[in-house]
Amino acid sequence: MFRKSFLLTAAALSALGTVAWTRRRGRAASSPQGVLGPEAVRSLYDRLAPVYDALAAAYGLLGAGQFHRRAVGALGLRVGDTVVDLACGTGANFSYLIDAVGTTGRVVGVDLSPGMLAKARERVERHGWANVELVEADVRAFAFPEPLHGVISTFGLEMVPEHEAVIERAVGALAPGGRVAVGGLRRPEGWPEWLIRLGELVNRPFGVSRAYEGVQPWHSVRHHTTGVRYEEHLFGAAYLAAGTRPDEP
Ligand SMILES: C[S@@+](CC[C@H](N)C(=O)[O-])C[C@H]1O[C@@H](n2cnc3c(N)ncnc32)[C@H](O)[C@@H]1O
Repeated sequence: MFRKSFLLTAAALSALGTVAWTRRRGRAASSPQGVLGPEAVRSLYDRLAPVYDALAAAYGLLGAGQFHRRAVGALGLRVGDTVVDLACGTGANFSYLIDAVGTTGRVVGVDLSPGMLAKARERVERHGWANVELVEADVRAFAFPEPLHGVISTFGLEMVPEHEAVIERAVGALAPGGRVAVGGLRRPEGWPEWLIRLGELVNRPFGVSRAYEGVQPWHSVRHHTTGVRYEEHLFGAAYLAAGTRPDEP
């Protein structure tokens, strides 16, 4: 309990710094009242992009790095596969995806923020990954490539109230045996109210608010895939749901 409080407080302090930073650079980082539309998401993440990886490193203290590794592992990818990373941001999943698909596979990262994609591009160039493509698009309108063996999204689909349609299309584009893995934040159960409020404060710089509590993409994974594996992480504040494309009837 002490460790949980300490880590959340440390993350909150770093988040407060980011709130102050984003406010200095533009309007308030997010509207705590509602779900953001695509323009607001783009503008928020364009402002956040220069500091996103540093902030994410603070979340690494809470186990976020392991979370990305597990999410990629849940796809069961093989060398040569093609995988799409929806709302890829700066590419936190890429190294794990490249490890899984090798140099003969293909990784397609999709995001609507040019600022986040610029950071992802820096990461790709730094590592010399020749088989990563970056696409600037809203996941709601993205046309999935075929053949496709896996679709992943981490900490992104909570921002997309239409996640059901996105996941349905993703599953529809998968080759037989293809898998989807979706992970992100959820309202933790059994936490005291003050800790939930602190968690909300920590995540406010990312555009998260109580309005997102009803956006629960793991239900969509359950609806559209089989053999679903569901896990909770980060003391119950994050979920990971993965499943396989159902066989044709
Ligand atoms: C919290 S970041 C997560 C980035 C990365 N997946 C990770 O795990 O670090 C959320 C990302 O979702 C993107 N995003 C939100 N809504 C989107 C949408 N409708 N279409 C594409 N990208 C979206 C944002 O631009 C941002 O880069």
